[in-house]
Amino acid sequence: MITTVTMPNKTIAVSIQGLNKSFGDGENRLHVLHDINLTLQSGSMNYIVGPSGCGKTTLISIMAGILTAESGETTLFGTPIHQLKKSQKAKFRRENIGFIFQQFNLVATITNAENVAVPLLIQGKPHGKAIEQAKLLLEQVGLGDKINSFPRDLSGGQQQRVAIARALINNPRLVVCDEPTSALDGKTGAQILELLTVVARDPNRCVVVVTHDNRIYKYADQLIEMEDGRIKSIQQVDHTKPSQF
Ligand SMILES: Nc1ncnc2c1ncn2[C@@H]1O[C@H](COP(=O)(O)OP(=O)(O)O)[C@@H](O)[C@H]1O
Ligand SMILES: [Mg+2]
Repeated sequence: MITTVTMPNKTIAVSIQGLNKSFGDGENRLHVLHDINLTLQSGSMNYIVGPSGCGKTTLISIMAGILTAESGETTLFGTPIHQLKKSQKAKFRRENIGFIFQQFNLVATITNAENVAVPLLIQGKPHGKAIEQAKLLLEQVGLGDKINSFPRDLSGGQQQRVAIARALINNPRLVVCDEPTSALDGKTGAQILELLTVVARDPNRCVVVVTHDNRIYKYADQLIEMEDGRIKSIQQVDHTKPSQF
């Protein structure tokens, strides 16, 4: 028997089904995410917006395998990560996900280039080669002159750019950023978003950005609005039409 399989134009990067998450127990139990269903296509730039406390960081942390959901399914590029054991999940995360934390999480005692090189060093890449690659990326984010200095020598915006370079160095398939432009001025913010947009245009990759910054919605393919732990709306952006924002 011959069966014909029609391949979709785009593959699914992230599929989240029936996701629930609570923090705490008993009287202190806080139900933070309610039955979230979400699909992100490969080759797309996705923005998550919503008021403070609505569950954005929790959602992307589960998406990136950093937090575990109470119920529901999270599938990344065909791999159901909710079924992976802790060590398998950590390996999957190292190989496939770049996460830019809101608080940057840089290591104070090593140079900026070493911070960027950390994901490569963990994978066993020789130190010299890893640092060379880190330097190139630091140049791309406009920090070529800060390679040998330390995070403490940088402004908040510069530290954030180091965190972004560290998240991108592995060429991760999924890049997740928690409010990446909050500490960046207009010009640098635009440069970073352009860099992330280049990543998002790769048909095998996907970018998710949590933001309050409506100046940058023009970069989005999909805008996901959250409220009180729920998805309020999902809007596909048609770039052939004049900007809706
Ligand atoms: N580790 C935690 N323990 C208890 N409550 C938490 C924890 N992390 C987040 N919360 C709560 O979950 C809700 C959603 O938080 P968060 O996902 O950080 O929201 P957002 O990123 O949209 O501001 C908030 O009420 C927050 O206080
Ligand atoms: Mg947050």
